[in-house]
Formats: sequence, structure tokens, C-alpha cells
Amino acid sequence: MIDLTKKFDDFKAVDSLNVTMTTGVYGLLGVNGAGKTTLMRMICTLLNPTEGKITCNGEDIIAMDGEYRKILGYLPQDFGFYPEFSVKDYLFYIASIKGIRPIVAKKRVKELIAKVGLQKAENKKMKNLSGGMKRRAGIAQAMLNNPKILILDEPTAGLDPNERIRFRNLISELAEDRLVLLSTHIVSDIEYVANKIFLMKDGKIMYQGTAEELIASMEEKVWVSTVDKTDISHLMKNYKIANMKSEMCGVELRIISKECPLPNAQEVEANLEDVFLYYFGEKAGNEDVTI
Ligand SMILES: Nc1ncnc2c1ncn2[C@@H]1O[C@H](COP(=O)(O)OP(=O)(O)OP(=O)(O)O)[C@@H](O)[C@H]1O
Ligand SMILES: [Mg+2]
Repeated sequence: MIDLTKKFDDFKAVDSLNVTMTTGVYGLLGVNGAGKTTLMRMICTLLNPTEGKITCNGEDIIAMDGEYRKILGYLPQDFGFYPEFSVKDYLFYIASIKGIRPIVAKKRVKELIAKVGLQKAENKKMKNLSGGMKRRAGIAQAMLNNPKILILDEPTAGLDPNERIRFRNLISELAEDRLVLLSTHIVSDIEYVANKIFLMKDGKIMYQGTAEELIASMEEKVWVSTVDKTDISHLMKNYKIANMKSEMCGVELRIISKECPLPNAQEVEANLEDVFLYYFGEKAGNEDVTI
């Protein structure tokens, strides 16, 4: 990506991004409205950049046209599915839209149904699938052309914890030899699966690195301190509080702060949740806090 920018009127949804990706799993982490979907839609040539461009091996993806789409798979955030189609028919239908020859499609649909674990549900109507199953069917359709670049927009939305684990394993399996970019606002979804994490805020990539690098950047920023209940409200106004735990002698707070927040605060090792809160979190501000 070279100076990639997307404006909606005067509003910059994506702001001058310069990012390079190779094979591996990339996690795009950001709160609602950060610009994740806009960025992904540009990567999928569904939106044209206002400024800058995206290249694939040096070639502008818009100029590559069909050649680029051949190597691209996309799971949109609100992917439209066909409620009356069975899973199998849905995949055959998408395969035909993608111009995959029927004989190839037959083999591919079977393989993918097995890969995403939908064998038992292959004849179920799409409308009767659970949220997790629908997402898996969505991933299967994105994989039909065996893409080199797989873009998954919020693939874990609405999944239960078991489904999330299944999903993580599936992504690791699919990631071999391709570039997978997935967006989420749930830290644990990408903590173990992404080789590299992009933190996106207000259209910009604020930080990029491995989970370990992100955590290392939080040195001397996470503190634990046990305080009296009466002090909590004041602290919440002034600090980002990652956690609160009631103890016999007060309340143990996990505080995100560049400086040591209290004389008795002890520095602790950060986790990715802390990173998220540090970059994206808000202080409770003037809201009334009662426990
Ligand atoms: N077609 C559009 N016209 C005008 N503004 C838009 C359009 N699409 C997106 N935006 C704005 O651009 C910003 C980024 O939106 P985008 O959907 O890319 O965010 P996101 O990070 O995907 O958020 P979410 O986590 O909610 O999916 C938002 O402020 C949104 O309102
Ligand atoms: Mg989005």
C-alpha cells in the first residue's frame, strides 16, 4: 500500500497507509469505525482509493483486474447468504459465479466442506445454520478459488468460545502459503493466530508488530495496586482501569498508565488486552462510578 487514503466527503476513513504484507496471518485490530472494512474493501477492489494505491508484486491491483481477483478470496462483514440454499448448493452457486469449472468445483466444494467441518450440515439450508456454521460456510466460499490472498472481515463475530477455538485452528490451517488478513475487535481472536498485528485507529495504523512486540512496548505501563473503595471513583476518572477485583482489604486495580499511578503500585507484565486498552481505551471520565 502506498499512501493509501479513502475519503468520504471530507472525512478520511483510511488515512495515508503505507503497509507491506507477505504470506502469513495479519490481524487488523480496531474499534468500531476505525476504517477496517473500508481498508479491506479497497484491498478487494470494491472501493477505489481517493489517493494512493495498492500493489501486488509491484503491479497496481486495479490494473490487474481479473488476474488479481483470481487470487483473492473475501468474506465480507455482512456477507449475504442465500437462505433457501443448502450449504452445498450455496457453494456451487458461488463457484459458478467465480467461473470455476463444474468438475473442479465438485472436488473443491467437497474438500472445503470437510475442511471447515460442515459435512453433517452440507444439506442444511443456510437459514437454519448457527452463526458459527454460517461463518464457516462464508470462509469456505472465500476459499473456493484457493486464493493467495484471503481477506476476512470480522470472521469471528457472534461465535461462541468453542467456535472461536475451532476458527483459530482453521485459520492456521488455511494460512499455509497464503496471506490472510482478518479484522476483529476481539484481542483473543488474533493473539495466537496472527503473525503480525496492526492496530488501527481513526484510519491510521498506530502500531504494527507481533503480539510479543506489542506486549514489550507496554513495559512500565501496567500496574497493580490495592486501594480503598472510596478512592476508586477518583482513579477511574484519571486512569484507564483494565480490571478490578474485590479483596479483603480493598479493591485490586489493574491500571494502565505511563507513570507509576500510586506509591504502592507494582509494575506487572502486560497482556494484549492491556495493549488494546492503552491504545484504544477511554478513561471513565466524569461518569459516576459506583460499586
Ligand atoms: N460509504 C460510506 N460513506 C460515508 N462514510 C462511510 C462509508 N463507509 C464507511 N464510512 C465511515 O468510515 C468510517 C470507517 O468505517 P469502517 O466501516 O471502515 O469501520 P470499521 O473499522 O470496519 O468498523 P466496524 O468495527 O464497526 O466494522 C466510519 O466512520 C464510517 O461511518
Ligand atoms: Mg467493519
